Amino acid sequence: MSSASAAALNRNQNLSSAVREAEERYIVANPESQRLAQLATQRLPGGNTRTTVHFSPFPLYMASGKGSKLTDVDGHSYVDFINEYTAGVFGHSNSVIAEAVRQALAGGINLGAPTKHERLLAEEIQRRFPAMELLRFCNSGTEANLLALATARATSSKPAVLIFDGAYHGSILYFSHGGSPLNMKFEWITSTFNDLAKAKADIAANAGKLAAVIVEPMQGGAGALPADPAFLKGLRAACDEHKVLLILDEVMTSRLDPGGVQHLMGVRPDIMTLGKYVGGGMTIGAFGGRAEIMARFDPGRPDAYPHGGTFNNNVVAMAAGHAALTSVLTTEAQGRMNALGDRLRARLNDLARKLDVPMQTTGIGSIFGIHFHVGPTRNAGDLDRGEHGREQAVADLKKLFHLDMLAAGQYISRRIMGNLSIETSDVEAESFCQAVEEFLVSRGDVVRAAFPQS
Ligand SMILES: Cc1ncc(COP(=O)(O)O)c(C=O)c1O
Repeated sequence: MSSASAAALNRNQNLSSAVREAEERYIVANPESQRLAQLATQRLPGGNTRTTVHFSPFPLYMASGKGSKLTDVDGHSYVDFINEYTAGVFGHSNSVIAEAVRQALAGGINLGAPTKHERLLAEEIQRRFPAMELLRFCNSGTEANLLALATARATSSKPAVLIFDGAYHGSILYFSHGGSPLNMKFEWITSTFNDLAKAKADIAANAGKLAAVIVEPMQGGAGALPADPAFLKGLRAACDEHKVLLILDEVMTSRLDPGGVQHLMGVRPDIMTLGKYVGGGMTIGAFGGRAEIMARFDPGRPDAYPHGGTFNNNVVAMAAGHAALTSVLTTEAQGRMNALGDRLRARLNDLARKLDVPMQTTGIGSIFGIHFHVGPTRNAGDLDRGEHGREQAVADLKKLFHLDMLAAGQYISRRIMGNLSIETSDVEAESFCQAVEEFLVSRGDVVRAAFPQS
C-alpha cells in the first residue's frame, strides 16, 4: 500500500481500532514466530526467560544477524535498532571479535586459573576509565552493581543506599513505579533524578546511615533521560561533604564516549560499574574504583573480601572484550556512531515539531528514547505525570508505533528505546527517520487525539 493511501485509510481510525488492525496484520505476517512462542510456553513461563524481549501478542523470533541487520524466522529483514539493548555496539558479525573468540576457544574452554586475558582487558578498561584504579570482573551488569553496593556497604559499615526513582541497575535493582518485589532488601532511600536540591537534602538527612549514592548518568530503563551535568557534579560534592560513596552505573552509558559519560560530564566516581559491550558481546560485568577501596579484594590480605565467581575470568569474554575495545570500537568508530545518534534525535524532534505531533526524542549520542509526551522529560516523575489518567492510551500509542515500525522493517523495542551500532549506516538512520515520519503523518490524528489539551 502506498504511504498516501495508508495515510488516508488511517486518518479515520481511532486508537483502539488502529491498534487492533496493526496487531492482526502482525499476527498474519509472523506465523512461525507465533508457533515458536506457543511451543516455548510449555517450558518457560509465558514462553520467556528474559522479560525485556517479551511483547504482546508474541515476540519476533530471530533467526540470524549480519552487520546492522536481523532476519526473523518468517524471513523478514530488519535494521536492528535494539542492538542487544546497547550491548551490541559492534553489529552482528564482526570478524575481529569472531577471530578472538575462535583463538580463545582453541586454547581450551576456561582453564580454572588466571590467564593473560583478564589483565589485558583490565588494562584497556583502565585506559578508558581512569576512575577504575583497580577493578574486578563478574558476569553481568546486575552482578557488577550488586558487588559495587555490597563493597560500599562493607567499606563504610553503613547500611543504606540512595537510589533515584526510575533507575534500572539490574533485574533485582529496579526502581520504576515503586520498585520490583524481587529487589534486594537493602535499606533504600529514594530520591528524584535531576532534582539536585532534593537529592542534597536526602543525602544530608541520611548521611549517618548512607553508604552510597548510585546513579546512572543517563537513566536508560526510564527512557534515555540524561542527567544534567550540574546534577551529577552536585551529587559528587554532596557525597564528598557527607562522606558518602558515589557509584556511577555506566553499564549502559559508557559507550557514549570513549571515557564514558563521566568523562563527558566531568565527574569522577568512587566506584563505577560496567557490563554489556565491554565483553565484545559475551557475558560480562565489571566493578572497580578507588584503589584503597578495591585493594580489599586482594586475596593475599588477611582482611580480604572474598569474591569468587566461576566465570569471572572466562576466556571468551576476556579475549573478545579486549579485541573489541582495542581494535573494533576505535575512537573514530565510537565518535561516528554517537554523532549519527545526535543527528537522528535532532531530526526526529524536528519532524515531530513540523508535523505538530506530541512526540519527543531524548537521549545522548547513540542511545535514544521516544516519548509521546508534552512537557519536560527530566525524570520518571515527569513522564508519569504526563501519562496520568491516560496510561492506557499511551501504552496503546507505544504499541501502535512499535508494530508500525516492525512492519516497516525497523527493529525497535516496545518501550521505544533504541540505539545504534558502529555498523548502522547514515542511510539506515535516515530510513528509520522516514519510517517515523510516515507514522507521524499517517497516525498523527490518532496521536493528537490522545492529547486533547495539546
Ligand atoms: C544502567 C544499567 N545497569 C545495569 C544493567 C544490568 O545489566 P545486565 O542486564 O547485564 O545484568 C542494565 C541493563 O540493561 C542497565 O541498563
